[in-house]
Amino acid sequence: ESNGITDRLHRPLQDLRISVTDQCNFRCTYCMPKEIFGPDYPFLTPTELLSFDEIVRIASQFAKAGVEKIRITGGEPLLRKNLPDLLKRLRAIEGIKDIALTTNGVLLPRMAVSLKQAGMDRVTVSLDTLDNDLFGYINGRGVGVSPVLRGIEAAYEAGLAVKINMMVKKGINDKEILPMARYFKNTPYVLRFIEYMDVGTSNGWNWDEVVSKNEILEMIDAEIPLKPVDRKYYGEVAKRYQYADGQGEIGIISSISDTFCSTCTRARLSADGKIYTCLFTGRGTDLKEFVRSGASDEDVFNRIVQIWRNRSDRYSDERKEQGTIERKKIEMSYIGG
Ligand code: GTP
Ligand code: 5AD
Ligand code: SF4
Ligand code: SF4
Repeated sequence: ESNGITDRLHRPLQDLRISVTDQCNFRCTYCMPKEIFGPDYPFLTPTELLSFDEIVRIASQFAKAGVEKIRITGGEPLLRKNLPDLLKRLRAIEGIKDIALTTNGVLLPRMAVSLKQAGMDRVTVSLDTLDNDLFGYINGRGVGVSPVLRGIEAAYEAGLAVKINMMVKKGINDKEILPMARYFKNTPYVLRFIEYMDVGTSNGWNWDEVVSKNEILEMIDAEIPLKPVDRKYYGEVAKRYQYADGQGEIGIISSISDTFCSTCTRARLSADGKIYTCLFTGRGTDLKEFVRSGASDEDVFNRIVQIWRNRSDRYSDERKEQGTIERKKIEMSYIGG
């Protein structure tokens, strides 16, 4: 169980989200718009990235501090060379019970089997629409839907549990809510809808572009009746609903309309070795230089405990109270959601 380390708002440290690269093969309009993330964009250099040795060392100390769940993110994490080697080593850390991956799915047909063999439990694939033209526009690369669907299938066939994440932005893909719900009902895949969030500074977020959890629910429930399901674990991000006919479930991640900061148990490690205690902070606490300058495992552990005990972030709650908040924030592609 959790080692008892809690932050200033009494939240335990349970999950570590590790970004392994800031690069991506997509240029989603709301995440890495190609006007900003062009050929000259200064992505992290190989020496700026944490090595696998460094990631494993840091993750081991997080496990000692109570972390049981690891999620690998990016950018697009499957672009990181030899990722299965890292997974095998993370799998071997005492106390780690669950390893998941967030991906756009395109590289899964090539990698699903080796991910599973390396000890990965499950993957979450992002897919915002089933419309080829719209999808090609959103991903900024003209990629169609079928490479992603093939990735989803490859993951399932390799024995990985699969969830689908659909970010919903009003006027862009809200008309895809029902087609997506229909398509993924009666499949082994749990579809989750994510309210469009004010992450980063390059997506120009606006309240008017949010479709709320209740709007999404009403839209689906009117056609396919739903009933709420109890949460599976403390700090679960998605609110879950089951189809009344028993054929499948959906989730809604409502970090705008129904915030969940009070049970936020997640620490984030960026690809260049900084700890972020919230998705919306502007500044992380460096661990890379600390590790590279000869810190012992115990030093790293103590630093992690100190960071967590000091934590008081509750950005989404504050935004809800205040409307909007002007603040420097890290980009989603840098921290992986
Ligand atoms: P599991 O329950 O482990 O399957 O994962 P999860 O529900 O945490 O979901 P996932 O990691 O797929 O997160 C889905 C999306 O929810 C992310 O891409 C973010 O957009 C959003 N999200 C996840 N964690 C947080 C959080 O702590 N704060 C906010 N505001 N959004 C989050
Ligand atoms: N709001 C909500 N979700 C977002 N994602 C990226 N940017 C945003 C945003 N502004 C989602 C992606 C992917 C996951 C990593 O985060 O669609 O599913
Ligand atoms: Fe799109 Fe995910 Fe890549 Fe961002 S990291 S550009 S959301 S595929
Ligand atoms: Fe956690 Fe920050 Fe998201 Fe709130 S806004 S749930 S504190 S990451």
